[in-house]
Amino acid sequence: MKQSVKLIVGNWKMNGLAADLTGAVAEMLADLSARPASVRAGLCPPATLIDRMVRAIEGGLIEVGGQDCRVETKGAFTGGVSAEMLADAGATMVILGHSERRQEFGESDALVSEKVGAALRAGLMPIICVGETLAQREAGEAVSVVRSQILGSLSDQLAGQDWALAYEPVWAIGTGLTPTLEQIAEIHAAARAAMVERLGEGGRAAPILYGGSVNPANARDILAVAEVGGALVGGASLKAADFLAIIRAA
Ligand code: PGA
Repeated sequence: MKQSVKLIVGNWKMNGLAADLTGAVAEMLADLSARPASVRAGLCPPATLIDRMVRAIEGGLIEVGGQDCRVETKGAFTGGVSAEMLADAGATMVILGHSERRQEFGESDALVSEKVGAALRAGLMPIICVGETLAQREAGEAVSVVRSQILGSLSDQLAGQDWALAYEPVWAIGTGLTPTLEQIAEIHAAARAAMVERLGEGGRAAPILYGGSVNPANARDILAVAEVGGALVGGASLKAADFLAIIRAA
């Protein structure tokens, strides 16, 4: 039986200095040389570390990605980083529309969709994040919120491309709380339906990652849920041993 490849991506958020990179990445590289072929792994450090992480990995088994990009390729956007710059630094993927960007920076579905186009033009794999807040879940709106975010955040250009969706309930991020496996299955099924509604058959191939308090103890069960094609890992990706344990659970 063909085993599907799980995509496990670490999001370091605004954490990491050069010193952290040496220890953590060296440990992961050594261990991942025995990585099961069923896993594709990526790490998204702050933009300042992408180049150094790529050099440390040297064509090895972990891909390196960005955590956001601007729509424009260059120009008078102080502090901005373009998709082209991430690719130039050696990134192969980029997280887009993370709830922290949506909440802290007011990013809309329409903006995320434009960023998806920019990422694809730069040759990066977009990882597009969606997820409901606790208030929305309690109001029974989780499925409709996720569907609406998917319809608004995807781009026609995704069909046939290398990309992933990440379902990350906002209330599960960094809290230690996770939905039940049934709730994850329900949203992932609804997400797949919305991806197909938006892109037709082109919405069938992309993996749907689960994100939000994934750790070595819960990874195996979550990754076994139908339509869970991998994980987007925040806090646990900062500790090499934990991130490796999650990869091994895939
Ligand atoms: P967490 O973060 O694993 O620390 O909950 C996940 C994310 O924000 O991608």
